[in-house]
Amino acid sequence: MNVKQFNRFSNRSLRVTGQGAIHALLQARELEKQGIDIIHLEAGELDLDTPPHIVEAAVNSLQNGHTRYSSTQGTLQLRESISHYINTTRITQTTPNNVVVTPGVKGAIFFAIMALVNPGDEVIVPDPGFPSYSAITKFAGGKPVLWHQHMAEDYIYDIDQLSSIINNKTKIIVLNNPNNPTGTVMPTHILESVSELALAHNLWVISDEIYSQLYFNGSFPRSIYTLPGMADRTILMDGFSKAYAMTGWRLGYGIFPNNMVDNVCSIMLNDHSCLPEFIQDAGTAALQGPQTCVSLLRKELCARRDLVVDAINDMPYISCFKPEGALYVMIDISQITGVSSQSFAEKLLMEGVSMLPGTMLSKNGQNEIRLAFVANQKRIATAMERLDSTIAQLTH
Ligand SMILES: Cc1ncc(COP(=O)(O)O)c(C=O)c1O
Repeated sequence: MNVKQFNRFSNRSLRVTGQGAIHALLQARELEKQGIDIIHLEAGELDLDTPPHIVEAAVNSLQNGHTRYSSTQGTLQLRESISHYINTTRITQTTPNNVVVTPGVKGAIFFAIMALVNPGDEVIVPDPGFPSYSAITKFAGGKPVLWHQHMAEDYIYDIDQLSSIINNKTKIIVLNNPNNPTGTVMPTHILESVSELALAHNLWVISDEIYSQLYFNGSFPRSIYTLPGMADRTILMDGFSKAYAMTGWRLGYGIFPNNMVDNVCSIMLNDHSCLPEFIQDAGTAALQGPQTCVSLLRKELCARRDLVVDAINDMPYISCFKPEGALYVMIDISQITGVSSQSFAEKLLMEGVSMLPGTMLSKNGQNEIRLAFVANQKRIATAMERLDSTIAQLTH
């Protein structure tokens, strides 16, 4: 009898790539174990604890016995809070029925792409950009198509390029506004041009707005979701990880068009059934409670951004764009010859600063590294001294 070859893993699983930031964080932690002082500027995780009133809400919920299965779509109380919050900040008319509560914004990305993408479908993703959009598209059997942005143009989306990469296989355009890793916030006219193309070619749009509360220019960034005709084809995503320092709670959400909600919930039901109710109660407390924690955080991040940007642009050989939102700065290291972004990041790590090689976030990232301003200002100032001395060593 012929014994079939034993294939251990699905082709689908072999297509998925990991996430560089987590690897870099673990590598830096290994060095710390050897007694080396490392300043962590690699992962997008703040150096702050979740505000106490949010923790308290979770504890109370647990003590009140909220430990059972709950609704797959999310508790009505949380969905009402989310839809109220979205309607106030984006000036929209969503209802709690449009809200699907997910395990982080990553969950929203995963379930939306799994619900929409067939093998062979193309998904347009920003580059530089958050790597999960491409990874999940490949997992679903689709093809990520990179939409390049450049520092010389303040990383603003190039509409001509978008127009040239759309074809009859294109299914989704992904936007991330404010963007990780560039910190760019798209002007309204760019969002309008994207929406015109999406409408003309009958495309879905995923608008990842996880950094919307971390916008330094005062008002709230405009969402493509609010433009005429877009609410029926846009999945607006947001969450709690960044603005409320809740990365470990795994709480996010998507605002889905009515006809997509059941589809996404069926996938989620078979995956995780529901988010824990006490976590959702904490999310409700985050949205309904005082927002001073968010405004203080935004102020602190703005000060960190200024510190970093001024220091970098004062150093020889490197430069950066001044981000308008999010937590990151992409540093251009192209003037330091003969050093790849990977080897630059390795050298910097040995000097006690952990950052991400640009290649982890962009196909063209060989001349860039990403700094996440997630340490306090004193540590960032020390990191800038170490960066300066690393550049001096590499250029002499
Ligand atoms: C653009 C973007 N989207 C989504 C996520 C994932 O967020 P969450 O922790 O809510 O899953 C991140 C995390 O860094 C991000 O940068």
